[in-house]
Amino acid sequence: MHMSLLRRTLGAGVLSATLLAPSLAVAQSAILEGERFHPEVGTQGMVATSHFLASQVAHDVLADGGNAVDAAVTAGFALAVTQPRSGNIGGGGFMLISDEDSGEVVAIDYRETAPAAATETMFQDEDGNAVAEWSRFTHRAAGVPGTVAGLSLALEKYGTLSLAEALAPAIRLAEDGFVVPQRFVDGVAEAGERLTKWDATKSMFYKEDGSPYAVGETFRQPDLAATLKRIAEQGAREFYEGETAELIAAEMERHDGLITREDLAGYQPVIREPSHGTYRGYDVYAMSPPSSGGAHIVQILNILEAYDIGEMGFGAADTMHLMAEAMKRAYADRAEYLGDTDFVDVPLDGITSKAYADELRSQIAIDRATPSDEISAGDPTPYESNETTHFSIADGDGLAVSNTYTINFSYGSGIAVEGAGFLLNNEMDDFSAKPGVPNAYGLIGGEANKIEPGKRMLSSMTPTIVKRDGENFLITGSPGGSRIITTTLQVLMNVIDHGMNIQSAVSAPRLHHQWLPDELRVEAGFSPDTLSLLEARGHTISQQSAMGAAQSIVIEDGQFYGGADPRRSTSSAMGL
Ligand code: GLY
Repeated sequence: MHMSLLRRTLGAGVLSATLLAPSLAVAQSAILEGERFHPEVGTQGMVATSHFLASQVAHDVLADGGNAVDAAVTAGFALAVTQPRSGNIGGGGFMLISDEDSGEVVAIDYRETAPAAATETMFQDEDGNAVAEWSRFTHRAAGVPGTVAGLSLALEKYGTLSLAEALAPAIRLAEDGFVVPQRFVDGVAEAGERLTKWDATKSMFYKEDGSPYAVGETFRQPDLAATLKRIAEQGAREFYEGETAELIAAEMERHDGLITREDLAGYQPVIREPSHGTYRGYDVYAMSPPSSGGAHIVQILNILEAYDIGEMGFGAADTMHLMAEAMKRAYADRAEYLGDTDFVDVPLDGITSKAYADELRSQIAIDRATPSDEISAGDPTPYESNETTHFSIADGDGLAVSNTYTINFSYGSGIAVEGAGFLLNNEMDDFSAKPGVPNAYGLIGGEANKIEPGKRMLSSMTPTIVKRDGENFLITGSPGGSRIITTTLQVLMNVIDHGMNIQSAVSAPRLHHQWLPDELRVEAGFSPDTLSLLEARGHTISQQSAMGAAQSIVIEDGQFYGGADPRRSTSSAMGL
């Protein structure tokens, strides 16, 4: 009997007990010929970032004998120059590092924190209504930035370069400038209103005569170069206690912001244990709270593991339906339970347990979408035992880095620190301004993610490293706000379930469901016939523009395969 018929006959719950499909991953080298998409190939290492200039400097670090962490930190600072709209020292993020030799996988949490003066209701008006403008486009929208401290901690603990060496390419790119690509011009044009509102931002992104840069012109950032030089000379604490801290605090004082010198001086990144799960025999490591990414990618994979996704096929109605149903249930739990574990208890063991996944799977019907208003957060407790930057880097000595960082929106709050040359994040919008009121990504949050001084706002960033038999296998992650978790999930499933090479895996069309709103978002590229089948099961299809930019690497048999996401024209994978 054909598998999909068998499923319809037995129902999803029965399948969970009877079928545990094996991995279908096919050797990457065996699937290169005859494929439409071809990955970059290397024998000594690989870098995949969203900007070719950052890929180049990271590649050079590896070629000069630096390790993957050296290359990652160098790329992180370079992207802050070449992609000031997203990779940025005014924000924060997460880095996963896997060392094959020690078997250790660690997570560096350099997420922003709420300033000491932040309050639970700071983004509500006198009638208790959440005011989106306040949490997104004012100085109060900014959390205390973590990027400089986080990248420097990674380098200090796991790298071999000095901070000055890792900053040198970024300083050069800021000082000498770089030739503006089309994407830069388009971004400034789209965000024009926000970028011209504040003088410091306007002078950063526009020429002296007030006109925008054109493709081919050189974009220089002298204030940013000076900031990076101070950090190179005085160390990471300069950002938090030196002249840069003074400039941030002064910017806040001038405009009713909350971040003080004390907030900056008190900022510390944290080394955490990543979330861990297994999928068809692979070990999946991804970011733990304050990101929801790791918990929910593991939860969704646990639900899907019992279905023979590979047999159903990529883009099949059954596959897409089951993915959407699993996603909905995970995002309902996200809204209820997830927050900063330094402040709230999160039932992580339950959420990521196979037994809880069995229970959630038993609620899924193969032939009918469960409306989101029939889904609420489950109870995992009994089982207790639109622009961000992701890059992936691996060296030839078994070290791999998966890093995602952000200032939240493209151009963050749109507010540049006068005299310092970088934008401030608007990450405070990732807290729940009011329980039940959606944030910019339509994500609902509850008590667990309410604003508290010093707390880290909940994230969806999902830097991920998948290991096979103890060896680094897949390094991936993505930008995309609420869609980060599902984008990363699909790269992983495309490789493991559908046997795609990594370039095909990152290029394939994506879908997303986040419980609320109750719509199945799809990129262009899925068959209209399939979408009709999904509508017949009760899904509301929403055709959307591109989701994510999953710069990814697969390592297999000593070969490195890089996948640069075509959704960013500047994406670049470089092997060596
Ligand atoms: N600011 C988006 C996220 O952290 O999920």
